[in-house]
Amino acid sequence: MGKLKHLVSSDDFTKENLFEILNLADEIYTNKENFLQSAKGKVLASLFFEPSTRTRLSFETAMLRLGGSVISVSDPKISSTTKGESLADTIKTVSSYADIIAMRNPFDGSANVAKKVSTVPFINAGDGSHQHPTQTLTDLLTIFETKKTLENMTIAFCGDLKFGRTVHSLVKTISKFENNKFIFISPIELSIPDYIKMYLQEKNISFKEVRTIEQVISEIDILYMTRVQKERFFNEDDYIRLKDCYILDNKKLEKAKKDMIILHPLPRVNEIKEEVDSDPRAKYFLQVHLGMIVRMALILKLLEV
Ligand code: NCD
Repeated sequence: MGKLKHLVSSDDFTKENLFEILNLADEIYTNKENFLQSAKGKVLASLFFEPSTRTRLSFETAMLRLGGSVISVSDPKISSTTKGESLADTIKTVSSYADIIAMRNPFDGSANVAKKVSTVPFINAGDGSHQHPTQTLTDLLTIFETKKTLENMTIAFCGDLKFGRTVHSLVKTISKFENNKFIFISPIELSIPDYIKMYLQEKNISFKEVRTIEQVISEIDILYMTRVQKERFFNEDDYIRLKDCYILDNKKLEKAKKDMIILHPLPRVNEIKEEVDSDPRAKYFLQVHLGMIVRMALILKLLEV
């Protein structure tokens, strides 16, 4: 197995390296105090050229909880990008200050450019509507901790499946595990991209596309809700028309399995009513906590400390 040097997309994951990260994350989850000094003397650069709350803060907290330090650009307006510096030059520069880099960028494919010139481990924290592999690690750890397996499940994705990068990364990754089936719930305009469907067809993985939650709710083991990605729309009217297409409430959950879990990468806008938060199947705030834990594990694996 090739060692994981950078993390740019779900193509970098193998079952082996995923289990290494998830097992280490599980150890950290139960014994955080054993890792307080694990990255002492190391520096994480967190470069966020697009808004973020959870991903940036969880990366930075992860590094601090491992005893390391953090330098960051959280407002692109005050970096040299505004002077016209290329992404490649920015990454080359930051590589000579930091031991590991996490970057979020609005452009699809930017993470690949950055990885090529980075002389230290590079992590994609979201590139446009393309991929978000550390959210996938967060999702997998949450599934693993709650369902105790990554196999034999019916996983439904609901909402903006066209622009939702967390969906693209998770579908491609969890399809590496045995006997998972997918249901894609979206309006036609926000359907899952063809390249993902082709990927599933080539691997003979079963999936269907539907337009309502109600028609499939009783079949689902994992319901992955998503926000309509306003910032990726070209047209405000389309956004307004589609933004509230799915709203999960207690009524819709009446026919769901008792052990179904509800995930959401957050932020939520309107797609899950607050009344659902107290349902024991709602796991999206556990997901937030596990996102920090799994990033601690990823940082340690990439730094090889
Ligand atoms: C997601 C993202 O940035 O793609 N958020 C996150 O990282 N937790 C989902 C979203 O913004 O809707």
